Amino acid sequence: MTSHSAVPTSSPDSIPSLVSPILVASTFATPAATPLRLGVMASGSGSNFEAIAQAIADGQLHAKIPVLICNNRNAKALERAERWGIPSVLLDHRTFASREDLDRQIAETLKQHGVEWVIMAGWMRRVTQVLIDAFPDQMLNIHPSLLPSFPGIRAVEQALQSGVKISGCTVHYVHLEVDSGPIVMQAAVPILAEDTPATLQARIQVQEHRIFPPAIALAAAQKAGVDPTTFFSPLANHKVS
Ligand code: GRF
Repeated sequence: MTSHSAVPTSSPDSIPSLVSPILVASTFATPAATPLRLGVMASGSGSNFEAIAQAIADGQLHAKIPVLICNNRNAKALERAERWGIPSVLLDHRTFASREDLDRQIAETLKQHGVEWVIMAGWMRRVTQVLIDAFPDQMLNIHPSLLPSFPGIRAVEQALQSGVKISGCTVHYVHLEVDSGPIVMQAAVPILAEDTPATLQARIQVQEHRIFPPAIALAAAQKAGVDPTTFFSPLANHKVS
């Protein structure tokens, strides 16, 4: 993928954002025989979930989403799942006695759906070792800052208040400590003088949607010891099946 977006120079989005590592291949090397099976966990809007579903539909990401797990019955993510025809399971954290009990049920549900990779896309609960142990080195999260800066909640506000001039987003492995696991991919987003939390968050989300699909492919390829283009091609509509 390229590191510069072709948008008019009058738009704040014309400021180039930088993605690292950059995936340069434009076609699938050899698409893997079996698509990755992604279990997505979301608590809110679910725009990252939808970006992943769209990348799959466009033939960019060689994957399937057998299930979306949501902990909030009012989450827009549930509506998006319905629109995409993706099965969803509501596991309301308030009905579980402990974080571990919730995570045990999540792990069981994901396993029942044959999930290999767990994708936390706006999951607003701290996860426990119970879930991490069920999917060792196969859980990814997206966070709206350039980690290790600004982990935890209100990362966009933290970045604005700190006065840094560049922020961004990070896809990383999930470890027990919040937003702490090894980094897979990042995109940098310049902070503008006139930015508010809402405007900065909106520009960061554009980059989140851009990097999450290739980051999943990269992590899966590293684990399988194959080329990332086995699972990802930036060429839209390059259908593999
Ligand atoms: C994203 O900004 C992500 O970085 C953070 O939660 C937000 C989820 O957004 N972890 P959405 O629900 O995918 O729209």
